[in-house]
Amino acid sequence: MTADGWSAIDAHEVQTLEKLFEQDADRLSAFSLELGGLYFDWSKTHLDKHLLKSFVAVAESAQFAQTREALFAGAEVNTTEGRPAEHVAERGTGAPDAVELSSARRGRMRALVDAIEAEAFGEVTGVLHIGIGGSVLGPALLVDALGRRSDRLEVRFLSNIDGEAFDDAVSMLDPETTLVVAASKTFTTAETMANLNAAIAWLQEAGVEDPFGRVIAVTASPEAAIDAGIDETRVLQFSEGVGGRYSLWSAVGLSAALALGWTAFEELLEGAAEMDRHFRYAEPAKNAPLISAFVDRFYVRKFDCQSRGAFAYDERLRLLPFYLQQLEMESNGKSVKVDGSPVGQPTAPVTWGGTGTDAQHAVFQLLHQGTILVPVEFIAVTEAEDSLPPDHHRQLLLNAFAQGAALMRGRQSDDPHRSYPGNRPSSTILLDRLDARTLGALIAFYEHRTFANAILLGINPFDQFGVELGKQIARKLDESADDDAFDASTRALIDRAGL
Ligand code: F6P
Repeated sequence: MTADGWSAIDAHEVQTLEKLFEQDADRLSAFSLELGGLYFDWSKTHLDKHLLKSFVAVAESAQFAQTREALFAGAEVNTTEGRPAEHVAERGTGAPDAVELSSARRGRMRALVDAIEAEAFGEVTGVLHIGIGGSVLGPALLVDALGRRSDRLEVRFLSNIDGEAFDDAVSMLDPETTLVVAASKTFTTAETMANLNAAIAWLQEAGVEDPFGRVIAVTASPEAAIDAGIDETRVLQFSEGVGGRYSLWSAVGLSAALALGWTAFEELLEGAAEMDRHFRYAEPAKNAPLISAFVDRFYVRKFDCQSRGAFAYDERLRLLPFYLQQLEMESNGKSVKVDGSPVGQPTAPVTWGGTGTDAQHAVFQLLHQGTILVPVEFIAVTEAEDSLPPDHHRQLLLNAFAQGAALMRGRQSDDPHRSYPGNRPSSTILLDRLDARTLGALIAFYEHRTFANAILLGINPFDQFGVELGKQIARKLDESADDDAFDASTRALIDRAGL
């Protein structure tokens, strides 16, 4: 085995999935795991005991245990920005000083939630949450997944710099009784600032006396929020060490806490903390985020899979694929290692997905018979909450399981059009029920899986310099749209749109 340990994996002779089941009577128990109301099944992937061993060796040579410990100890794992990654401190499992600070800040957040509930802001019937990327995707997922049966508040999310999105977001809100939550780590993001200004104008036009008094800012840059006109009593701060896409556990989750209630928010953190402890202490061969990272790496490296599909067989999780796209692609869509040298192997595949069964009738054709291989992940929930007789949910779950079986088994036919190659991998995550605790554990699982992928690749998952250039050019165009320095195509588009 070479120093980096990948050579055994590269040389590994891959068996078909059916053969793997035939050869190992114990396969299901070896490649499945139950943990805090979540059941993971990787048995329909090509991982076998030899590969697992080789991957554990790769993890060792990549200093997996040491880097994981550095995360929990609050060391500077975000090397390019010289910071720790402190999302684990938000749920009480990080370095003691960071945990203490985040818990004091959570105390302020809770006091604000209590004050809102006690009508310190008068009657509140709605929240307009403004933010983009990590400052919206997490809270939106939480509210959509868990808030369906709650009539506490109407929470609308606004991210895009598009007046249509603004009109949609405010259409169900009464300006007299709406609070605006402006979430932005930097408090400089163009979209969020423009939408905040639009929201203040909307309140003003509706005759709200003190529009700024209806705004709560959530940020790691409190000075910027105060400069924008928001009183510091309504500025909730979180740490610079909490990355945007890892921030729903902090005050960025305020809108979700208001919509779901404080108890649910705390249960969310507890569920995540339980996953943190699992990730930190479970041995590699029984470590859910790490095993999933092995599977991710295997298909990207060995089969050159350029994408992975995540399909939620539960309407409540319909936003999960969007959340995962940012988490995985913004974290690991990189080309260089921590030391700046080329990473030398493919990094993050494209994360895409949808909901089942809709996706079956739209994109699964390619998954079953297309020329590219897409490792699929099914996420489903055993217990239903909907109003229909149990058979409805039973059909939904059976469909998810049938797809996994069909991808694996395939079917040969004399007619090539009706032939299915099979041997196509899938993993399944089955939640006993969907509640704040299991959702917290599920999201933390994905965070750690993303981190584990990064460690195996030797990259920093906590920066995102790739998004900066486009922002700079947009600013430059805004400042001088008539600048001749731009290329002919960009120039012509600007002229044609009359900008
Ligand atoms: O442009 C990308 C990004 O910086 C994300 O990483 C982040 O989640 C999002 O923009 C929003 O940033 P902010 O919270 O600072 O407004």
